[in-house]
This record gives sequence, C-alpha cells and structure tokens, in this order.
Amino acid sequence: MAFTTPALPYAFDALEPHIDAKTMEVHSTKHHKAYVDNLNKALEGHADLAAHDIVSLLRTAKTAVPESIRAAVVNNGGGHHNHTLFFEIMAANAGGEPTGVLGDAIKACFGDFAKMKDAVKQNGLTQFGSGWSWVVYNPTTSKLEAIKRPNQDSPLMDGLVPVLGVDVWEHAYYLKYQNVRAGYLDAWWNTVNWKAVEQKYHDAKAGK
Ligand SMILES: [Fe+2]
Repeated sequence: MAFTTPALPYAFDALEPHIDAKTMEVHSTKHHKAYVDNLNKALEGHADLAAHDIVSLLRTAKTAVPESIRAAVVNNGGGHHNHTLFFEIMAANAGGEPTGVLGDAIKACFGDFAKMKDAVKQNGLTQFGSGWSWVVYNPTTSKLEAIKRPNQDSPLMDGLVPVLGVDVWEHAYYLKYQNVRAGYLDAWWNTVNWKAVEQKYHDAKAGK
C-alpha cells in the first residue's frame, strides 16, 4: 500500500504568529507531499519494501534497501517520517515547559529544560545548510540526547528514536524569518505540544 501524506492535525494558521499560515500550507501540501510521492515512486517494483511501515523501512534502510534506491528511500522516507513527527509535535496555544515523566527525564539527561533548549538551538544553528535538530531516545543508554542530522537523514537509521525535532531547512522558516534561523528557533518553542512529545518518549521507551 502506498504511503500517504497525513493532513495537519490543525489549521494552517493555528501556529500564528510563530509560524505563518503560508509556510505551514506549503510545508505540508507541497514539501511533505513531494517526499511521500517520491518515496512511493522509489518503491515501485519493490513490493516487499513498500509493505513495511515507515519506521521499520528507515531502521533497516542501510541494510535491507538495495543500493539502487537507497538514497531515494533515505531522503524521501526520512523526509516523510521527519515531517510527520514535526507536524504532530506542534499545536495551537502550546509551548510552556514539559512536566511529569518527560520533564523529569529532561532534567536527568540535560540538567534542566533551559540546557536542553540551548542544545537544540545550538545544533539547529550549527547544522550547515539543510537538516534537523533532534532530541532522541537512545535505547542503548535509556537516555535522551540532543543531536543534529543533515538533509532528511532520520535518527532511526542509527538506532535512535526521535521524540522532538525541529526542521531547519529554509523552507520551514524563510517566508517569515528570512535568513534569521535563530529567530525561528527561539519562536518555535511556543508551538511545541509537550503532551505529544511525552507520548513519543513513552513509545520510545516501550520499544515502539
Ligand atoms: Fe521541511
């Protein structure tokens, strides 16, 4: 079955003024859709791979995907999963500070919430060109870590489980923030849906 582009779980203008409606519309209906379309195209004639869900496809991308289509699967499959997560962990009237189990884990792994935000911002600022700044769950250490990855490389390919990620491709912020990536990264925290991030953390710990 072909992969499909999920509709945003909120209106295009729901994240205003932090992320403008036009950016959200183009990001979801053009950029995300293009990754999904190109992933489906790459998997034509590979019914065995197309039968996987996106997580297992990416986890085995370096070993189970033939070299002839590996780059297309990494770029477009990564693009599909990264954007699905990104749109899921934002919401209207969101932001604030994480509490509960997730808040405790952040304190234990980073010292405090401000330090985690700093790490995410620094990784976002220092990712040269296009890419992502992530907080991932490392199943080997049972800890959260801040990492960055270029292009659409998914942390899943390295055995890590993304729980929070911010897109630092220019298409994510250029209309409103132009070249000022730092302004976008600061404002982005106002859109984070911590309940959704906490659910991803629970799922990651459960091995999902
Ligand atoms: Fe993007």
